[in-house]
Amino acid sequence: MASVVITGVGSYAPNKILTNSDLSKIVDTTDQWICERTGIKERHIAGDDEACSDLAIKAAIAALADANVKPGEIDLLIVATCSGDMPLPSTACLVQHRLGIPAHATSFDIAAACSGFLYAMEIAYGQILTNRYKCALIIGAEKLSALTDWTDRTTCVLFGDGAGAAVLRKVDQSGIGIIGSDLGADGQFVDKLCVPAGGSRKPASAQTVADRAHFIRMNGREVFKSAVRVMDQVAREMLEQHHLTADQIDLVIPHQANRRIIESLSQSLKIPLDRFYINLDRYGNTSAASIPIALAEARRFGRIKPGQITLLIAFGAGLTYGSALIRW
Ligand code: UT7
Repeated sequence: MASVVITGVGSYAPNKILTNSDLSKIVDTTDQWICERTGIKERHIAGDDEACSDLAIKAAIAALADANVKPGEIDLLIVATCSGDMPLPSTACLVQHRLGIPAHATSFDIAAACSGFLYAMEIAYGQILTNRYKCALIIGAEKLSALTDWTDRTTCVLFGDGAGAAVLRKVDQSGIGIIGSDLGADGQFVDKLCVPAGGSRKPASAQTVADRAHFIRMNGREVFKSAVRVMDQVAREMLEQHHLTADQIDLVIPHQANRRIIESLSQSLKIPLDRFYINLDRYGNTSAASIPIALAEARRFGRIKPGQITLLIAFGAGLTYGSALIRW
């Protein structure tokens, strides 16, 4: 029996850091409010000369080096993002060309917001397991600062820029690597978190620009409630499906949106908070990049050891959601 394993991970965050106190000079907010309500202290912000693909490439180079895999070996490239360089072509095409990944590799983007990395992982997992592809590079990359309304205090304090990546391939051993993966999407909540303009529904016009409709709009309270409910549900279902109890999970890597959501998840799942990897204090919410950045850091900081089980849980606009189990 074969398994699909993560053979390398990497992440990148732009140098510029925007602190809560910096934000309090832009909008009517305070470090205390942001810390208490979200747990975020600072976030990385890309420069004007850095686009989503630039962040993606840096994370990908780190992941390829960690996996000891050359770009020429990649035959499947997936970039999860909602802040790609351009509406078309895909950011994956830009990454493929600049990284020197062969043109015969299948390269495309996934739009599943904060759950995007788990969507990419599920697809790569299935395709490798069924021998369609040999070696996948999956990336979650976001320049959310470009979609942020810097006059809206209810959203601009939340988001940050960055990228994380992973290399996946098959091994002839059973029961390791990705041992479970499950995804979902509930479109009834589309308007709770969206960028209203810039697509075919409301193409860019002087009016959409005047309405600030090219920026993220969110009903924070509603999204918060859904996140707490859905993340708990998908985590429970994943554990049940694989006959695991909460105490068998060594580390949970949740989407990093709000520390209070993670605390609530820790309580409801009865997994102590010290078995959750939390870095949102330093990154904010980086959407599709959030889980792979945390995964790469957790590996780097020795929080993941051979034989251990990690549970990944995502939730985002759509509303999309997903969970995955990995045995290292
Ligand atoms: O990645 C996708 C998933 N996204 C999420 O999971 C985000 C989920 N939502 C949240 O994290 C939280 O709802 C927020 C952090 C966005 C907001 O926290 P909240 O505790 O739900 O605050 P609220 O929206 O209920 O607002 C409470 C008060 C309001 O004032 P009034 O009406 O009570 O006078 C807001 O105007 O806080 C005010 N407020 C702020 N005050 C200072 C909202 N934003 C700020 C701010 N600084 N930045």
